[in-house]
Amino acid sequence: MDLQAHRFLSYFEPLQRSQLIDLAALEEFTDQKIIFEEGEIPDSLYLVLVGQVVFSKRTLLNGYQEVAIAEVNDFFGESGVLDGQPRSTRATATAGTTLAKIPRDRLMEILDSVNGKVVLDLFRHIVQHLRFTTDRYVNLIVHREKMSLVGEMVNTIVHDFRSPFTGIQLSSSMLKELYPEDEEVQEWCDLIQAQIARMLGMADEVLAFAKGNAQLDKQPVGILDLIHRYQKLNGIYISSAQVEFVVAGDNPIVQVDENKLLRVFQNLIGNAIEAVGSQDGRVEINVQTLEDQVEIQIKDNGPGIPLHLQANLFEPFVTYGKRGGTGLGTAIAKSIIDAHKGNISFTSSAQQGTTFRILLPRES
Ligand SMILES: Nc1ncnc2c1ncn2[C@@H]1O[C@H](COP(=O)(O)OP(=O)(O)O)[C@@H](O)[C@H]1O
Ligand SMILES: [Mg+2]
Repeated sequence: MDLQAHRFLSYFEPLQRSQLIDLAALEEFTDQKIIFEEGEIPDSLYLVLVGQVVFSKRTLLNGYQEVAIAEVNDFFGESGVLDGQPRSTRATATAGTTLAKIPRDRLMEILDSVNGKVVLDLFRHIVQHLRFTTDRYVNLIVHREKMSLVGEMVNTIVHDFRSPFTGIQLSSSMLKELYPEDEEVQEWCDLIQAQIARMLGMADEVLAFAKGNAQLDKQPVGILDLIHRYQKLNGIYISSAQVEFVVAGDNPIVQVDENKLLRVFQNLIGNAIEAVGSQDGRVEINVQTLEDQVEIQIKDNGPGIPLHLQANLFEPFVTYGKRGGTGLGTAIAKSIIDAHKGNISFTSSAQQGTTFRILLPRES
């Protein structure tokens, strides 16, 4: 958007508005570029003209927790500018973000000269924003607490479920062997086994979620090798789904927790295969080595992720349109990628299908 039309400027009278426009320095940021760090002494206020800025706070486990987002027409950094205290969050740009940066000292001079109404309007906006962000943060913490309780409970239940499942699976294998010539027995037993496999898969998904990802067992792993391993482990599933399955790209060696990353592929590729259906369904995995990151794309030509899910897709228990969905697949994938200090995002539409994009740091 145009700087002149930005909401922040609308609070001011024409004279100060043009002073502010003169002061503002436009700056472009690349993806993941840090605009300011938590704890830094504030020197500017920022207006978002293009793109998005993500605010995150350092967590106990040395990770970062996203707490808010600023979009086009928002401004940020005002609390620090007003009280001079260190920044309470880190601000990171997304791809192609343009900001107008207004230096603190000059802004304070202008604020000193404006009439009370300007300050009051500005103040009102800031308080509203603060309230919104605090609510969001508190909800997040409460949600986490709940999840860890649910996780513990589920863990116990699922463990107890596994042994009867395994019992049924074994018995149906025995039945198949006892009646090799009886087509009907073979068919029913296959059905039992497929359903049990599905339930075990769901149980695994829930268990993986309950376990969390606080600890990683990292080793050097070739990413393409790992995808081939996934393919081998899931050969029967992939071929019975009758989708075109393409794997391409390089084989960068990255320090990762192999089993956890395998689970990410399991969840995302599983979703893709479920989404495309067997008519002309195509799932494509591509690995690229970038400068200091590795990019893994999982692309399908399915119907796209329903719009109403997209904003909360990575939240646990978000599921739609499938029987036996746990709604944990993408939540687990995100927590594993986060634990690797990587990034996961997606684009999705009815025309283009869905592409998940995973970035992992090459050195860690
Ligand atoms: N590749 C995809 N194409 C279309 N829809 C998808 C895709 N991936 C995920 N979804 C949608 O997002 C929901 C959440 O996925 P997920 O977190 O794996 O949970 P689950 O698969 O157990 O429902 C799915 O129920 C589905 O509706
Ligand atoms: Mg899933």
